Amino acid sequence: MKLCNFINHNPLFSFSSCLLLQVTIVGIGQVGMACAVSILQQHIANEVALVDVDKNKLMGEVMDLQHGSLFLKTSKIMGDTDYAVTAGSKLCVVTAGVRQQEGESRLNLVQRNVGVFKHIIPPLVKHSPDTMILVVSNPVDILTWVAWKLSGLPSSRVLGSGTNLDSARFRFLMGEKLHLNPTSVHGLIIGEHGDSSVPVWSGTNVAGVSMATLNPQLVHKKGDKSEDEGEAASWNKIHHDVVHSAYEVIKLKGYTSWAIGMSVASLTHSLLWNLRTVHAVSTNVQGLHDIKEEVFLSVPCALGSSGVCAVLKQPLSEGEKAKLNESAHTLWGVQKDLKM
Ligand SMILES: NC(=O)c1ccc[n+]([C@@H]2O[C@H](COP(=O)([O-])OP(=O)(O)OC[C@H]3O[C@@H](n4cnc5c(N)ncnc54)[C@H](O)[C@@H]3O)[C@@H](O)[C@H]2O)c1
Repeated sequence: MKLCNFINHNPLFSFSSCLLLQVTIVGIGQVGMACAVSILQQHIANEVALVDVDKNKLMGEVMDLQHGSLFLKTSKIMGDTDYAVTAGSKLCVVTAGVRQQEGESRLNLVQRNVGVFKHIIPPLVKHSPDTMILVVSNPVDILTWVAWKLSGLPSSRVLGSGTNLDSARFRFLMGEKLHLNPTSVHGLIIGEHGDSSVPVWSGTNVAGVSMATLNPQLVHKKGDKSEDEGEAASWNKIHHDVVHSAYEVIKLKGYTSWAIGMSVASLTHSLLWNLRTVHAVSTNVQGLHDIKEEVFLSVPCALGSSGVCAVLKQPLSEGEKAKLNESAHTLWGVQKDLKM
């Protein structure tokens, strides 16, 4: 009797069904693979499925990861160009997309990515009707709205990685300045992922001690003649550096990958394990902070097995609210002309 038949038919080896935490990652470029490796190494999922249009590269990546199975706690690593491989996923992470071409407008790029998403989102939902979708592809806020529209899922189950990474960069840079570990330096960046993101200085703290109280120059107003102007500028430079750090990394190595991979793994952990931890992620903010448009922007959200379980309304200054509303107008300006 062959060993596999012996195992399959012997009551000693009866396999009981167990809780299945399957994650799908669509797009196995630099970002998709960094997400896959982080999720695997942190033992967050027990099954991981990869999908891409590039069949050879996909098979190569799947085999390479499978060969590391001995060192992981993920029982199954699969990959296919056919979305049937994704069936039963609790979470689908979308990192696929096309890059901006020279001279191409933002609207044209977004429209081409809508075309890509039309091939991705409906089959994901067909094979996993109860899934949550986490969008990483850029422009992430608009594409999360597109994914939500194409999916027909409740908006709580479709979210974007948004400013989770911007917030991690923010805490790292504040930690460097204070000589503290970033886990002990609290603060969030909200709004649009990237250039127009909003740092919420009023909420930054170490051990509950507000940094705005310790450094009144953080809420420094234009025109004030403060002795601490230099210090204020050096704190404000932190947000400038957060915004520019992605460009800097891309200039040096051609793309960003490791930090986004780790930040997606942390979101995946909260979602799959129902941790209800709070992250700045892109969610439907219509009606919040006076936003009238149907847009997705990052605000603090508690994440669990049903997706966004709660949205936390921070007390924001008029300036911060105005910046969020400005981003909402800009995003809607692009979204309203998209052909779905
Ligand atoms: N949200 C963030 O914080 C953040 C950070 C870094 C990168 N990104 C974004 O992540 C995306 C991916 O970046 P990358 O560096 O991995 O790009 P990449 O070009 O290396 O990989 C993209 C992958 O998508 C695949 N793809 C294209 N069309 C597809 C389709 N229809 N179905 C399945 N797969 C398809 C390609 O074959 C490729 O493997 C980009 O949009 C990038 O801007 C977001």
